[in-house]
Amino acid sequence: MGLFSKIFSNTRKPEGFWGRMIVAGMNGGSHGAMASWGLDFANVPAEGEIIDIGCGGGANLARLMGRSLHAKVTGVDYSRVSVEKTRKVNADAIAEGRCQVLEASVAGLPFKDDTFGMATAFETVYFWPEIEKSFAEVRRILSPGGIFLIVNEDDGLSGNNEKWEKMIEGMHTYTPDELRTHLAAAGFRDVTVHRNESKHWLCITTVK
Ligand SMILES: C[S@@+](CC[C@H](N)C(=O)[O-])C[C@H]1O[C@@H](n2cnc3c(N)ncnc32)[C@H](O)[C@@H]1O
Repeated sequence: MGLFSKIFSNTRKPEGFWGRMIVAGMNGGSHGAMASWGLDFANVPAEGEIIDIGCGGGANLARLMGRSLHAKVTGVDYSRVSVEKTRKVNADAIAEGRCQVLEASVAGLPFKDDTFGMATAFETVYFWPEIEKSFAEVRRILSPGGIFLIVNEDDGLSGNNEKWEKMIEGMHTYTPDELRTHLAAAGFRDVTVHRNESKHWLCITTVK
């Protein structure tokens, strides 16, 4: 594995020194503008429970709390490095009881059925295992009518996907049609695709 590949594989599961560097980078750069663009397509509930899956450096938990008056926000990530960074970034909200962060994989979310009014996934579904099973697991923990928001920096149509998939083992840059099909197979309805065609950003909203 080349050095670039070794470094960028930390976007899939941040670990060790390079993982900490990559996670710090996730909270800056283009991720913030893209996350805000995506969040504009969904009504963030004013109360109840919201979950951000694959929360990385935790900046999107803060964004979600900024867009919701009272909702309690949970972050999950299967990387210990990501969980630690997210806890640091949201320490005040955690102390106030408005936020919690858990180490867990989307493949087995440690929550009861019908818990959350909204689930978000920024820049992470590329790495999820058995995508339809992962989507079904998200659907399970959403309450009926709950919203699932996916935001990806690459819509699978940019021509860059092969380069990234070669560099980062286990990554798949889904096209809008692929995601639509997998979400429907997992039982989601009202799948709506939003794109920024010049930047190749992709946002999908769908409902349990
Ligand atoms: C590219 S980062 C994006 C982080 C953050 N959502 C953002 O937009 O800045 C991808 C994150 O998804 C997490 N992730 C990947 N696969 C996961 C899985 N199966 N379960 C939970 N987290 C996962 C990684 O550990 C990493 O922190």
